[in-house]
Amino acid sequence: MEYEFKKDFWWGAASSGPQSEGRFNKANDNVFDYWFDIKKDEFFNEVGPNIASNFYNSYKEDIKMMKEIGLNSFRTSIQWTRLIRDFETCELDNDGVRFYNDVIDECIKAGIEPIMNLHHFDLPIDLYNKYGGWESKKVVDLFSKFARKAFELFGDRVKHWATFNEPIVIIEGQYMYKHHYPQIVDGKKAVQAAYNLNLASAKAIKEFRKTDCYKNGGKICIILNLTPSYPRSNSEEDVKASNIADMFFNRMFLDPAVHGTFPKELVEIFKADGVMWDSTEEEDRIIKENTVDYLGVNYYQPSRIKAREKELDFKDNWMIDRYFERYDMPGKRINPHRGWEIYPEAMYDIAINIKNNYKNIPWYVSENGIGVEGEEKFRGKDGIIQDDYRIDFIKEHLIYLHKGIEEDSNCFGYHLWTPIDCWSWKNAYKNRYGFISLNLENMEKTIKKSGHFIKEVSKNGGF
Ligand code: BG6
Repeated sequence: MEYEFKKDFWWGAASSGPQSEGRFNKANDNVFDYWFDIKKDEFFNEVGPNIASNFYNSYKEDIKMMKEIGLNSFRTSIQWTRLIRDFETCELDNDGVRFYNDVIDECIKAGIEPIMNLHHFDLPIDLYNKYGGWESKKVVDLFSKFARKAFELFGDRVKHWATFNEPIVIIEGQYMYKHHYPQIVDGKKAVQAAYNLNLASAKAIKEFRKTDCYKNGGKICIILNLTPSYPRSNSEEDVKASNIADMFFNRMFLDPAVHGTFPKELVEIFKADGVMWDSTEEEDRIIKENTVDYLGVNYYQPSRIKAREKELDFKDNWMIDRYFERYDMPGKRINPHRGWEIYPEAMYDIAINIKNNYKNIPWYVSENGIGVEGEEKFRGKDGIIQDDYRIDFIKEHLIYLHKGIEEDSNCFGYHLWTPIDCWSWKNAYKNRYGFISLNLENMEKTIKKSGHFIKEVSKNGGF
């Protein structure tokens, strides 16, 4: 075997509540449920989250299939809108409690380590309407109450927790680039919401530290999509632009998560531009004192940056984009279905960055993957989708990850997005990511060639 990984390495896959469960028996709606109800045509083929991949009803069969392809760990999320009936009093929804208990028990029975995340873009719509969602410190406090409830209910069995998935995507989607409801473009609100999300994560961690789960060795992380920032050239202007993009899109969450502090230069920019967030010393202290035990890193694509060439209109609005522009690098490899660059080398750069600049904290690849449209055409006579492109994609990324681990980066696992094709926000079921395919017409699931591949990798501890 050329690429061998540690014995207890996590070979798994990730999903989320809103993208897999469906809205069956859900006590409340989140922003995506609501958005779909009012504007179906904004979703690919007008397919929304109502059924998703039916995990609410098929979790037993799904977990069995995950076991069948050799996965030893699985991340999903507990939906705030399913577990809690009343956000203010934190009154529980009995069916929500039953459902997550069952999912967790089923995973454990199958020998699959459950990793439970508490927020995957699924802000309750009521908390947006009432308080402005993540713009509000009230919502931060309600989130930490919900987190505490989840730790108390499930912490006897769930040993690995995550506070948020990709908080920067909430900022980009809701406040900058309009791919999440309510599609606001407001840089100042973006900055405040970013602080509040960091505070919400820290406050949830603070609650976690009080639980028996933590006292008995449970651990908590945040899941960040890292997009290593590469400048177009070594010119001072390009490097500076790339550094600012890196501070905003990566370090604004990574630094507080691991070090408890924000990048100084970024804070100076916010202050100089009059968009600094409101915070108190007490809140800063909570962030400082409640850092993560480990990190989840989602990696899909790098970020190519150049100094700004075209003017942005700043008259009514401030946007961090005034300091840089996206650079469309000639010759880059691209996944045409999603439009994302493919650059496996970045996996190594991430590993070394965590080792050198983030205390070599334990971390795992919590998502990586390739979304492909029209996979049915690759179905062979044996009924198996021949997704060799996915196998190659995984191998290439694992090779660079392996190199980082050889150089002592403390990575303990690799999860693909996703075990079974699931619903993808605005793209719905356009691009498929899973080891297992889902036929939306009859809900039939079949293991793809990559599913057979990962089974071998997991069994052998490498490839
Ligand atoms: C990650 C998210 O950003 O990428 C997932 O955590 C998402 O929720 C996945 O589905 C793939 O992206 P997309 O937009 O193609 O679904």
